[in-house]
This record gives sequence, structure tokens and C-alpha cells, in this order.
Amino acid sequence: MPLLGTSDLKAGMVLADHLTTPGGRKILSKGSVLSDKNISMMKVWGIAYADVEGSGEDSSSDIGGNQGEDIKGECESMVRSYFPPSLDLEPHGEMFNLCCERCSRLVVSGDRGAIDEITGHNSPESMPSRFDLKEDRPVLRQIVGEDVALSSLPDVYFKIMDVIKSPVSSAASIAKVVSTDPNLSLRLLRLVNSAFYGFPVPIRSISRAIAIVGIRELSSLALAASTMSAFSHIPSEYVDMRSFWRHSIACGVISRVLASHKKIHRDETFFLAGLLHDIGRALLYIKLPSWMGHALGVSRFFRLPLLEVEKRLLGFDHGQATFKLLSQWNIPEPILGLASWHHEPEKHDKPEEAALIWLADWMANGMKVGSSGTYFLPPAQEEIWQLVGLEPETLRSVFIQSERQMSEILRIFLMS
Ligand SMILES: [Fe+2]
Ligand SMILES: [Fe+2]
Repeated sequence: MPLLGTSDLKAGMVLADHLTTPGGRKILSKGSVLSDKNISMMKVWGIAYADVEGSGEDSSSDIGGNQGEDIKGECESMVRSYFPPSLDLEPHGEMFNLCCERCSRLVVSGDRGAIDEITGHNSPESMPSRFDLKEDRPVLRQIVGEDVALSSLPDVYFKIMDVIKSPVSSAASIAKVVSTDPNLSLRLLRLVNSAFYGFPVPIRSISRAIAIVGIRELSSLALAASTMSAFSHIPSEYVDMRSFWRHSIACGVISRVLASHKKIHRDETFFLAGLLHDIGRALLYIKLPSWMGHALGVSRFFRLPLLEVEKRLLGFDHGQATFKLLSQWNIPEPILGLASWHHEPEKHDKPEEAALIWLADWMANGMKVGSSGTYFLPPAQEEIWQLVGLEPETLRSVFIQSERQMSEILRIFLMS
């Protein structure tokens, strides 16, 4: 149901859904009758909207005039609260406008889940407690090597690559390998039956699906599915893996769109590099939960980039962890390098290509589609933005194209 902004709420209206703070704390139950005091409290809590009974017809039929302005204003303050302050720097201003426009679209369509992702970035109320540094600093080499389950990728990806490379491979032999993995088979069928391919009748055969999507797309789907199943059992104490994958998939989609804007014809490589860019951080959440929990607290409370806190606290960052893990998995170049150098593209042998993954990550964080732990958008680094070599206006078409592709890809990969 569409939502009403706080300035349109009136005493006596009945809540159609629970009212929660941006941090998720419930303050009023569904069915409560709003009072003037409640409405003032919502402003104090930073709650921008409420689902109110009977508000659907009004707000969907007229979003112009005062209500349109209210939504715009509320969205600007929501986006401004996590954006870097210097909007006159490139590409901050253009990205800020795009994020506000997206926020307004989400409010009008009543996409509560997506709006919650935008508002769920508040700093913790208290200072992170002193961290007990009695434990020795972790050693990256040990972290990556010691976990048998994660030290090798589930082998369906490599089996597929073997059979693809074999001179005697056939569509039937590839389909046989794919069929051994129900998750991969399901994702493949979802992909081939999605709006991208637009077949009027459902495709149900794995070998037909492979013939349609092609070997390159199949191998990238296999790598993505294998990685996601390797990281499917992570405790959600510090990171919600669904949100982590939403961020990763968003980064993959934007990377692919950016590559095609730059006329680089290896778009699956860019999708995979974007998808895997923060995988090292997922490993750190599993292996070093207390260190990473503290790093997250410090980053949110002091508005410091999590990457910098990782470096200070651990002595290495998740980019290095991504490099170690993907090397251990034998993930080939250029995916390995593009994913691993997304925060330091100048160190890559094609810095202008690695810079595209950096920009995709920055845009995914700005859009707030999922999160791998970044709450406040760090300022875009000017030298890296120069490496990207895009006009700020081009961001608009990249942003809109990516947003359109994202919902379908998220549905296929997350099976929602
Ligand atoms: Fe990162
Ligand atoms: Fe990221």
C-alpha cells in the first residue's frame, strides 16, 4: 500500500501496518489510532512515512502538488543523511539527485522493503565498547587456509568448466552436470524463463535452457550459484547474508552496465567481478565475528569507512581477503584482479577497468540496494573518478538501466 508522509498524517487516522523506527524498533501496532502526539513523536524518531488505512486511493491517484513536494523533501533528507556532505563535487550531485528520484519512486509504489534499506543506516546510539585486544591480531593467510568448507569452491563450477573445455563435450554432457545441482538448475530455468528472453512458452528442459543462454552465461551462473551456496550458512549476528548478496548482485549488474557503456565486450566478467568484489568481507564476518562486529560499530558511530577501520584494526582489508580467497578457489584473471582491486584500482594493470568495479560498488552503496556493511556513503575519490572517465550525466543512463535490470536478476539469484 502507498504510504503517507508525516506532514500528511492527521490525528484519528488508523495505522494499516506496524510503525517502526528507521532502526526497526516497533513503536505503534497496526490498528492504532494516531494522535497529534504520535505524529510529533514520529518526526523526533526520524520516521518519514506511515501506512494508514484508506490512504491507498488518495496517494496513488495524486502524487503531484503538496504531496509530491513532501515526498521529494522527505527523500532528500533521507538520502542526505547518509551521503557525503559535498554535493558540488563530481559525481556526488548527480548521484544524489538520482538516489532522491529513486526514493520518491519507491515511496509512491509503496516498496516498504526498499525504503527500509534506505532508512536503515542510523548510527548506533552508544559508543562501541572498548575492544579486548588480548587476542593476537589475525593472520590473513591462516584465515583463508584453515576452513576446509570454504577453502574450495563447491565443485559444480569446475565440473562444468571441465566439461565445457573437453573436446568431446556435448550439450547433453553439460546438461548432465548441471542437473546434478538443483540450485543451479532452478536458477538456470528461472533465467531462461525471465523477461530477458521473453519466450511465450515456458522452457523446462535443462539442455534447451543451456542452448538458449549460451556457455558463457551458464558458467557465470554456475560460479555465482556455487559461491552463494558456499556462503549460505553464515550466522546473521553482524551481517544479513541476503542483504550482503543484494549489494553484491547490485554491484555485479552496475559493473556490467558500466562495461557496456565503455564498450568493453566482456560483460559477464564484469558481472562476476562485481558479484564477488566483497566476498573477502563475508569470509571475515565468518572467521572474525568479534573483530568485524567491533569494526562495524566503530565505522557506524564515527562515520568512518569500514574499509579504513578494517585496515587499522586487522592490519589488512577485505580487498586482500577477496584476493586470497579467490586465488585459493582458482578463480581466473581478469575476474580475480578486477574483484580484488575494487578499492585500489590504480594498482591493477588495467586501472580504468578496475575503477568501473569501484564505481559500481559506490553506486550500489548510494542506491542502498542491500549492504555489505557500509552505512554512510564515503566521498568518491577524485583520482578514481578520473580513471573511470565518465561524464556525470552518463551516470543517469547507467543508473536507470541498472535499476531496471536489478529486480529481475535479484529475483533469479535470490529466488525470491
Ligand atoms: Fe569493498
Ligand atoms: Fe561493496
